[in-house]
Amino acid sequence: EKGGYEHFMLKEIHEQPNAISDTFRGRMLVDKGIIRMAGVDDNMERISNAKRIIIVACGTSWHAGLVAEYVFEEIARIPVEVEYASEFRYRNPVISENDVIIAISQSGETADTMAAIKLAKEKGAFAFGVCNVVGSSISRETHAGAYTHAGPEIGVASTKAFTTQITVLTLMALKLGKFKGTISNSDFHMYLQEMERIPDKVKTALESDAVVTKIAEIYKDAPNCLYLGRGYNFPVALEGALKLKEISYIHAEGYPAAEMKHGPIALIDEQMPVVVIATKKGHYEKVVSNIQEIKSRKGKIIGIVTQGDEEVRELADHVIEVPETIEALTPLLTTIPLQLLSYHIAVMLGKNVDQPRNLAKSVTVE
Ligand code: F6R
Repeated sequence: EKGGYEHFMLKEIHEQPNAISDTFRGRMLVDKGIIRMAGVDDNMERISNAKRIIIVACGTSWHAGLVAEYVFEEIARIPVEVEYASEFRYRNPVISENDVIIAISQSGETADTMAAIKLAKEKGAFAFGVCNVVGSSISRETHAGAYTHAGPEIGVASTKAFTTQITVLTLMALKLGKFKGTISNSDFHMYLQEMERIPDKVKTALESDAVVTKIAEIYKDAPNCLYLGRGYNFPVALEGALKLKEISYIHAEGYPAAEMKHGPIALIDEQMPVVVIATKKGHYEKVVSNIQEIKSRKGKIIGIVTQGDEEVRELADHVIEVPETIEALTPLLTTIPLQLLSYHIAVMLGKNVDQPRNLAKSVTVE
């Protein structure tokens, strides 16, 4: 059942190239330059005229929502707010009939996300679901939706659900952007062609496993770890930290790299590993200067870099390479070594990777 892998989590990490292509297959017709998503097509007027998109989710799905915020605003030029479902539902939020609410949920059963959707529907918003489990409660409660085709996710720590959620939401943003004319035809084509290459690039990113294992060996006993990223990779930093916390029980925090100087930099000394996502596109030089700040305080730097990078390699204690891609798609690649890092550390520490203490796969109580 684990397909020769020692744990479901590792199997599911390695399933990501297929999970991503299963998610875009049949939807993305690259030669014709179209994206077909029935749930969007059938409601195009309503969705494309949204004054605002509100994304509600919890945990890893909330991180996918944060990535989607950057993608939607960039490509479809619709303002996006990303909310923890548990906060949104209890604060008398301002919702109107012009709002579209997107619920992201692997299980489709998360109680807080479900309640947030019901609330938004009562106030007249249009509800769209991005779920993995077919026929789940949230997929039935929403007006329309688009499934991720990740297949069953058994490991409690979410991996392939995250990357397929980003895939679906990126397709949706591209489709809306094309309809609204907020993305040029040539950029639209470029995105489609590049999306088609992502599964192979994820495979390449998975080859970092040996390098990641060595790094895991060095830092497995660290009591704390920081994760930094900017732009599209800020949510990836949050997700990397969550993965480490939940399966290895090491305290970890994710931050936007530029927030360092507003507090967390005080934590940095020679004991502190800092994972910095520093891919070539997107604020690269700014991230390099953040790395210099960490280095001058003797923090240990693990850089997630684009293949062939030299500048960060000079400064960092370790680098992990991922293939180059367009900026908006980098989270699909930079996430991979962070999943592997938490996995290997947890295994080395003898933790129950697939069923970490205190956690349940689907959180049906608030
Ligand atoms: C983290 C994790 C949780 C879930 C969260 C939402 O690895 O698994 O944070 O992401 O409980 O679950 P879904 O997506 O099922 O609503």
